[in-house]
Amino acid sequence: MSDNPIARIVHLSDLHFGEQLVNREEWWHRVCAPTPVQGRYTHDYQAVRALERILHEITEQATTSDLPLLLVHTGDLTASGKQLEFQTGQSFLSRLGTVHQVPGNHDKWDFAAGKPPVHYQAHFLSLESTPSCEGRVIFFRIDTNRHTQPFWDATGAVEPSSLAAICSELARHPDAIRIVLMHHPLSVAPAHDNKQLRLDNRETIAQTLADAGADLVLTGHVHVSQYEPQPYPPLHFIAGSATQMGGPKSFLVIDVYPTGFDVQQYSIGPDNHFRSI
Ligand SMILES: [Fe+2]
Repeated sequence: MSDNPIARIVHLSDLHFGEQLVNREEWWHRVCAPTPVQGRYTHDYQAVRALERILHEITEQATTSDLPLLLVHTGDLTASGKQLEFQTGQSFLSRLGTVHQVPGNHDKWDFAAGKPPVHYQAHFLSLESTPSCEGRVIFFRIDTNRHTQPFWDATGAVEPSSLAAICSELARHPDAIRIVLMHHPLSVAPAHDNKQLRLDNRETIAQTLADAGADLVLTGHVHVSQYEPQPYPPLHFIAGSATQMGGPKSFLVIDVYPTGFDVQQYSIGPDNHFRSI
């Protein structure tokens, strides 16, 4: 692209922090490693360390280039919405700076189990839009977890009133670069598409956001990064999980230009280091 980038976005998703004890290596070996099912929904402490290392490098590069670094997490910060999990996740994120976040279905599990969603509410006090780069970039946030149910329903849904409110707000900022954050993807490559994880009416929602002027939609949920051309607008990238137990680990770095976006995927290697691929 001919212009210089306005900003660089680090797009993380589905970090799935488990309870604090699994931050400790000895507990990880005793509690998580022997039980893959339990471990599936919590973080890999070695990957967290690797992620911290590469994010430090990315931050230094952006600082050297005098490029604003914007941090995004598109849901499932926690394994099951517990207070300790939110504390562990927020402790990690706050070391990186201000992070633009939306909730994922796992973050609302306590709510779905019939308990008051106190931890979710405390963490996601507001989903109002957040401007960055002196208003040149604006993040719009949608909660797609309307009917989350633990274990048996990970599909997504958007309240029509929420979608309408976001669209009217998108339309009020025609000169900004408008980026929508949500947890459930608008489309998924066939190899990773699973109807038990889908967003209801996703094609209609995608078209509605595109018509309202969304320049880019960032999502997560399926734990696999995706940034190839989509079957329908708007432009849409999925960040994989950088820290999931037992699966591929990746995230995205997106340079924001006045005329578009340039995306790179970072994946972890056998040496437990993240690299751009
Ligand atoms: Fe999810």
